[in-house]
Amino acid sequence: MDEVERPIMITGNWKMHKTVEEALDFVEKLDASLNERSYRIRLAVPYTVIYPLNKQLSQTQVAIGAQNMNEASEGAFTGEIAASMLLDAGAKFVLLGHSERRTIYLETNEMIHAKLKKAVQYKLAPVLCVGENLAQYQAGQTQTVIEEQISSALKDLTEQDLSDLVLAYEPVWAIGTGESATPEIVQNVHAFCRQILASLFSDAFAQKIVIQYGGSVNRSNARHLLAQPDIDGLLIGGVSLSLENFLEIVNDNYSKNQQRV
Ligand code: PGA
Repeated sequence: MDEVERPIMITGNWKMHKTVEEALDFVEKLDASLNERSYRIRLAVPYTVIYPLNKQLSQTQVAIGAQNMNEASEGAFTGEIAASMLLDAGAKFVLLGHSERRTIYLETNEMIHAKLKKAVQYKLAPVLCVGENLAQYQAGQTQTVIEEQISSALKDLTEQDLSDLVLAYEPVWAIGTGESATPEIVQNVHAFCRQILASLFSDAFAQKIVIQYGGSVNRSNARHLLAQPDIDGLLIGGVSLSLENFLEIVNDNYSKNQQRV
């Protein structure tokens, strides 16, 4: 199969960190330090900073998004946020099914499917997060778990609906543990994800989709991960909170194609 050029996309996932002032200071300095060779950048930020960051960044190559949303359009859902509100605040994308949402807030594959459909309806680009936990990994169930997570989330949607989809593979055992999965393990799972996408849709669609890896990514493992043919980007938690560390990764000026020859 012909190889398709996919953009390398680095996403910082700030989780529940940063005040408005801290966030503005971060992006102002980030903005000033990027160059034309920096990777494509996204920041998944707390709801309270989407609007100010988007205002500050609207002319640049950094896209701001959310870490979650509700599956309803609006209504009596105290504490929740709707896709239309995220769009209104300037969000361009939304993370869906992050393992912290699945494990701490008990989000099921069905809920994630409903959220993904709603994001598609509002043209908010979805980032579907999938990944097995340690027990599943040790029991050799990675492929079964991931196949179920992907196929249930993308059920009843078309290639056209999913033209902005990004997939993020985040093994739960690697998130925040300092134990990143090896580039070889991740490459195998990403190739498998592409096979699933090809079987659900088409080869051409599967080749187009950006698949990011997340879980204890840092300056030293980032380029080894990105050197793999099916690792198209990174979803970075802890390390993305420090501007210095984040910049080292996004400004690595490292060419995947050069590395592959
Ligand atoms: P981490 O988190 O980089 O701190 O392991 C990744 C994530 O949860 O998206």
